[in-house]
Amino acid sequence: MAERVLVTGGAGYIGSHACKALAGAGYIPVTFDNFVTGWREAVQFGPMEEGDLRDRARLEEVMRKHEPVAVMHFAALSNVGEASRDPGLYWDNNVIGSLRLVEAMAACKIPNLVFSSTCATYGEHDGVMLDESCPQLPLNAYGASKRAVEDLIVNFAAAPDVDLNYVFFRYFNVAGADPEAEIGEFHRPETHLIPLALDAVRGRRDKLTIFGQDYPTPDGTCVRDYVHVTDLIAAHVLGLEHLRAGKGSDVFNLGTGRGFSVREVVEAVAKVTQEPVPAEDGPRRAGDCAALVSGSVKAADELGWAPDHSSLDEMISTAWAWHQRPGYKA
Ligand SMILES: NC(=O)c1ccc[n+]([C@@H]2O[C@H](COP(=O)([O-])OP(=O)(O)OC[C@H]3O[C@@H](n4cnc5c(N)ncnc54)[C@H](O)[C@@H]3O)[C@@H](O)[C@H]2O)c1
Repeated sequence: MAERVLVTGGAGYIGSHACKALAGAGYIPVTFDNFVTGWREAVQFGPMEEGDLRDRARLEEVMRKHEPVAVMHFAALSNVGEASRDPGLYWDNNVIGSLRLVEAMAACKIPNLVFSSTCATYGEHDGVMLDESCPQLPLNAYGASKRAVEDLIVNFAAAPDVDLNYVFFRYFNVAGADPEAEIGEFHRPETHLIPLALDAVRGRRDKLTIFGQDYPTPDGTCVRDYVHVTDLIAAHVLGLEHLRAGKGSDVFNLGTGRGFSVREVVEAVAKVTQEPVPAEDGPRRAGDCAALVSGSVKAADELGWAPDHSSLDEMISTAWAWHQRPGYKA
């Protein structure tokens, strides 16, 4: 009988791609989601259990019913602007929600946890390529909430009566869509550059705003390291196998080591879609760093991870195919 993995946030962008990959790897992915930003239509690859992370009794009920061998924890709020305006919401949802999850895992004796962390936990390090040993000095409440979740998981894993091993993946900017266009990126509101640019191309929004032109980067716009969701999720399956092989807790950056500026991404979107991207310059956005680029090859060295699909062209073209599929709604 196939083993189960509980996927919190399985109705969201990255979690739904994880469910597809887990199903492809022979697991039954059980989605746990409250649909605050997720989509019922995205739950296509295994059972769905509706619930809120902060509801420990519901979590334990689902864990006892499905007896998962591991949890992949994607569920979170992740809008930096919203977090800056309403930090309490982020500490409640992301930190308290994750605390309840880890408590429920301890009570139900589920020993393996793969957690979606973020490069936003590092903050700004003046042009330094970020590796896992960089100090975590988040610039915004979203990054702070994710760092706090890492801390609480480390504390639980160290507790003598808790059997818990974890892999933290600190993602850089995730982009692209399922190559078969069954699922894709669909945030509400959308804040991510590539889907925003594609929406502008399709006339679903008037213009893309480029926030800040005076950053200390080659063209003055923010630089980010983009990783294809297919590659990102492949790392999660490797991380799960790493845990299940008893190799212990660890932390990995997931980025390619190559940064692209906002303007470079906008030009690449115009090239792939063969349409101009309506865009305007706007002021800097609170909480944004000038550049966030991974300087680590640890996931490659220790997990055998290869981000083979993370060219800008492939990320944009898979996202574009998904945006153009029949029935797309925003
Ligand atoms: N997208 C990126 O570029 C990126 C970068 C770094 C880290 N991350 C992290 O990856 C994870 C997934 O991001 P995403 O882009 O897929 O976001 P998303 O908003 O598409 O998915 C999040 C999912 O979690 C669910 N959720 C949120 N709070 C919940 C709660 N309290 N109880 C139950 N379900 C809840 C939402 O309904 C949604 O389905 C997040 O933890 C995010 O912080 C994303």
